[in-house]
Amino acid sequence: MTRLSIDGMKVEAKPGETVLEAALRSGIYIPGLCYHPDLPPAGACRLCIVEIEGMKGFPASCTTVAKEGMVVRTDTPEILELRRKVMWLILSEHPADLEESSQLRKVAEWIGAEQALSGFVPVPRDLPAITDEPLFIRDPARCILCERCVRMCQEIRGAGAIGLVNRGVDTVVGTDHDSSLSDAGCRFCEACVEVCPSGALADKERFDEKDREKTLLPCVNTCPAGIDVARYVRLTAEGRFQDALEVIREKVPFPRVLGCVCDHPCEEACRRGEVNEPIAIKALKRFVAEQDSGRWKSAPESAADTGKRVAVVGSGPAGLTAAWFLRKAGHSVLVFEAMSEAGGMMRTCIPGYRLPRDVLDREIREIENAGVKIKTGSEIGSLDELFDEGFDAVFVASGAADGVNMGIPGENDPRVLDGISLLRDVNSGREAAIAGEVAVVGGGNVAVDAARSALRAGSEKVTILYRRTRDEMPAAREEVEEALKEGVNISFLVAPCAVLPERGKLKVRCVRMELGEPDADGRRRPVPVDGSEFTMETDRLITAIGQKPAVPEGFGLSLDKKGCIAADAETLSCSRDGVFAGGDVVTGPGSVIEAIQAGRKAACSIDRRLGGSGLIDRAFIPEEEEDPCLGRDEGFAYRSRVEIPGLPVDRRLDNFSQVEGVLDEKAAKEEAERCLRCQLRLRISRPTLPPL
Ligand code: FES
Repeated sequence: MTRLSIDGMKVEAKPGETVLEAALRSGIYIPGLCYHPDLPPAGACRLCIVEIEGMKGFPASCTTVAKEGMVVRTDTPEILELRRKVMWLILSEHPADLEESSQLRKVAEWIGAEQALSGFVPVPRDLPAITDEPLFIRDPARCILCERCVRMCQEIRGAGAIGLVNRGVDTVVGTDHDSSLSDAGCRFCEACVEVCPSGALADKERFDEKDREKTLLPCVNTCPAGIDVARYVRLTAEGRFQDALEVIREKVPFPRVLGCVCDHPCEEACRRGEVNEPIAIKALKRFVAEQDSGRWKSAPESAADTGKRVAVVGSGPAGLTAAWFLRKAGHSVLVFEAMSEAGGMMRTCIPGYRLPRDVLDREIREIENAGVKIKTGSEIGSLDELFDEGFDAVFVASGAADGVNMGIPGENDPRVLDGISLLRDVNSGREAAIAGEVAVVGGGNVAVDAARSALRAGSEKVTILYRRTRDEMPAAREEVEEALKEGVNISFLVAPCAVLPERGKLKVRCVRMELGEPDADGRRRPVPVDGSEFTMETDRLITAIGQKPAVPEGFGLSLDKKGCIAADAETLSCSRDGVFAGGDVVTGPGSVIEAIQAGRKAACSIDRRLGGSGLIDRAFIPEEEEDPCLGRDEGFAYRSRVEIPGLPVDRRLDNFSQVEGVLDEKAAKEEAERCLRCQLRLRISRPTLPPL
């Protein structure tokens, strides 16, 4: 360590540390705008000047290496006056309205810019802002030429997309030949935005400091289970497929199922989508899950047996996820399933062409191999029985599998079928009562699954009736696209209002709708158009307008208005001590990944109740250092999203074979390499701001 004195205080500097770094680390603030802790020093702004005994003039402390015995002053009247002049020069060409939360504004206020600028009117450079590029705005009039962005882009990221262009008073930060960022080789990592002290580079989407991570790393933060998407995408790009799979397995026991059916909110939020198209995250998950060598099984076994017993009611994604994590925490777990096979909605509702049964079977077997016991064909009517049997806690995850009625005259006609029952029949290999023409009412995944299953089960023509437009359809976009490719018709802005009691063809009275004001969930409310009624003919009408849970009275649990179990949103505890509930039985129908997250939450809460820490995640691999260098990659911004292979339409309709194929290794790596690596921005140090 090197010992020196700064403003009379004894300070120790690490080898090679500059006076500025030693001072900041010791709590002595020296202003500086071109200095950034992650960048090599530039000594450009001259705000960090100090006096050092035995040295001439006012050296920049950011470029002066601390030496043994140095005596440094940072706050003499001359220094303060000189800094005000330097700040005057910086602000003389800057718009008067300094960016509210910028480092520039805070430093200017600390230095006393008002004194420096009294009676002075700045003359900003006449440079227009560039607002039509992805993710961030460039406002050169606010640039103070500190070059932090340039050093970051060139020396740390190695992308070299921006630099100083023009000469003398015309110098600005820009791209060669004024080309677009995409043409200049920008990687859109936004490290430049992160280090800009003045607001000359600013996110298009403004956010509150508390929402920083949520906004800047949306893939991770929109995943209900909090899977570290950014990390497994990077590991995939590096060819580390087992590592990538283990990152997913930290949070979920169903990587392959999710690779097939996840509704991927991460992709909708992916920032690459603003450059051109989002990363095909679900396809990457499927790819790494398909590469499973089983290495993850050699990770440390479950915790020692705690002697506690947990009953799980329902073997869907919520129940089995909770069972898996509780078993890993050392508890004995017995899952009760009313149906003859485990899997819940993954087995009964999701057709085999989306989720092959062997994929589901294999992941359920892994859960059983971990020691979870599953008792199928076992319907629970009372929770008392479970407590009488000695279970210490119960998790109710029995789903929401009862169809909702349309509430229109004639709907009890035997030719009107419930979508969930149809899917259950088809998925269990039973003969479905489907023939001729079929109309399906609804716009969610169940409606689309029922329509596509009906086509495969032998109907000649399938039409979905949806009361809003395609934009409001809750079904996954790609499922709708595939349905259309397969020949499903969709009639938008149509709702049935009566089923007519006539023989022969089924006659359904319908009304046309238009969109009115937004309702509580923000979607525009469909409103019937007066006088627009018409009658359509079909052979079967399938209703898929929603599902609700069927909670036995014997559970003795409080329900909400919708008949769902009332449970605490955080702990999932419900009205009976020792009972927890989660997944569709609490929220109504949701996605597989949402149910998985409910299972994770339940496992935390139940483990805590049983004396554990509630920390259920176990890392399979240690955190790795991430190389901050992205390098130059010509055409990076233009690389388009991978085409996900699929079964040709003419080979789909007489079978339930999986439609979506798996990427090959080359395609998976190339797709993962398209990632903007937004997480790197979050690793950039924050500069020290002036004391308040
Ligand atoms: Fe040292 Fe700018 S010259 S911070």
